[in-house]
Amino acid sequence: MNRSDYDITITKAKAIQTQWRTVPAPKRGELIRVFGNILRQDIEKIGTAIMTDAKKIHAEAIGEVQEAIDMCDFAVGLSRQLYGLTIQSERPEHKLQEVYNPLGVVGVITAFNFPCAVWAWNHCLAIVCGNSVLWKGSPKATEVTKCCKSAWDKAVDECMPGTDYKDLLQLIDGDKEQAEWMADDGRINLLSATGSTEMGKALAPRVSARMGRALYELGGNNGMIVSKHANIDLAVRGIVFGAVGTAGQRCTTLRRLIVQESVYDELMIKLKPAYESLSVGDNFKPETLVGPLINSASVDKMQSALSTAKSKGYTVHGGDVIDEAQCLVRPAIVEVTEQCDLVKTETFAPILYVMKYQELDQAIEIHNSVPQGLSSCIFTDNVQEAETFTSATGSDCGIVNINIGPSGAEIGGAFGGEKDTGGGRESGSDAWKQYMRRSTVTINYGKSLPLAQGITFGD
Ligand code: UN1
Repeated sequence: MNRSDYDITITKAKAIQTQWRTVPAPKRGELIRVFGNILRQDIEKIGTAIMTDAKKIHAEAIGEVQEAIDMCDFAVGLSRQLYGLTIQSERPEHKLQEVYNPLGVVGVITAFNFPCAVWAWNHCLAIVCGNSVLWKGSPKATEVTKCCKSAWDKAVDECMPGTDYKDLLQLIDGDKEQAEWMADDGRINLLSATGSTEMGKALAPRVSARMGRALYELGGNNGMIVSKHANIDLAVRGIVFGAVGTAGQRCTTLRRLIVQESVYDELMIKLKPAYESLSVGDNFKPETLVGPLINSASVDKMQSALSTAKSKGYTVHGGDVIDEAQCLVRPAIVEVTEQCDLVKTETFAPILYVMKYQELDQAIEIHNSVPQGLSSCIFTDNVQEAETFTSATGSDCGIVNINIGPSGAEIGGAFGGEKDTGGGRESGSDAWKQYMRRSTVTINYGKSLPLAQGITFGD
């Protein structure tokens, strides 16, 4: 997209938002309700586009559209619950209120790996909150972006025919340059960006330079602690889905396994055959569990990380390239003796680094000693360990799970993480507040003008 088309798009986004902000929120929710029904009808069509673009297996592609549908249901309910507080005033005959109003234009940048769901997290909230959306989907997932846009247009035709509300969602076709335009653009009131930490760090100074509002959901380096009190079979199931689901290309993928030394051998004896039996192949084949990586650059990055691991003397299981042209790789397990820089780096591929610990505080220390802070988990049936992991001295991540792997979060909770993950929160809970402008309103319903803090001024 060239600059003048971009400017036309953003002008339209501004114009439509000035109409949309006056529509009552429950009416805005009505459009999202219809949109959710269209997604239900189009689930296979969008799922196929996800399989084609992001190379997900069928179950995961459908799961991703389901996540968008869930988000619609959540946002419909929310459209009647954009509550502010009423606060007791210190002054007589006064009242304090929090009022939430629409923010304006929301820019959404999404990555190839969740080309539908992550957009839906943002879009559904932005729309019920009275905003318009400019969406720059991944250049690797253009078919998904088109399908989602056509689903949106159908919803508008059905729910609000003859209006211009199709323009509430407009696409920004492009890559890095267009992302930078969005970051620099003061007409974008919130920029929500999902992708690598590198991408986030390139955009953040631009948004900050204009004092803009941003929401980042960036890289993860998610860990699992397996305690001596863990149900090992449960842990193995959690590890396999967490580490190899979506071929290791979720931001929530399990990348580090921190195992209590007394259960290390038992765990590895169960984990290795589970890895060996994984069916790697064409993601359109029903028997496949691990589809291809997104491109050959990803294959190269994985292979280079594995050769670094080997050069350090670590034991590598699996990881071989099965079919170079198809970008098929066997997921790898790497047994490491320390959490070196390699382990601290997110390689967006199915590599699981495994290490040992003795005491829980040491495990938590290892767990938290990475730059990223997205998702985390512990497998334990011991309540002290579980509660410690969720406490002030526990995991430093935005997502903390007990006896569940780090990936596959539901939309009802706020999603996002700390440190290099960027600090943003999307989808459920009160994430909607970021898509609105909060005003603190003070109302004087008396006949005098008392000042706060008891100040007398010329009385
Ligand atoms: C991402 O990889 O950017 O929790 C999002 C999960 C999914 C979302 C992942 N619900 O794994």
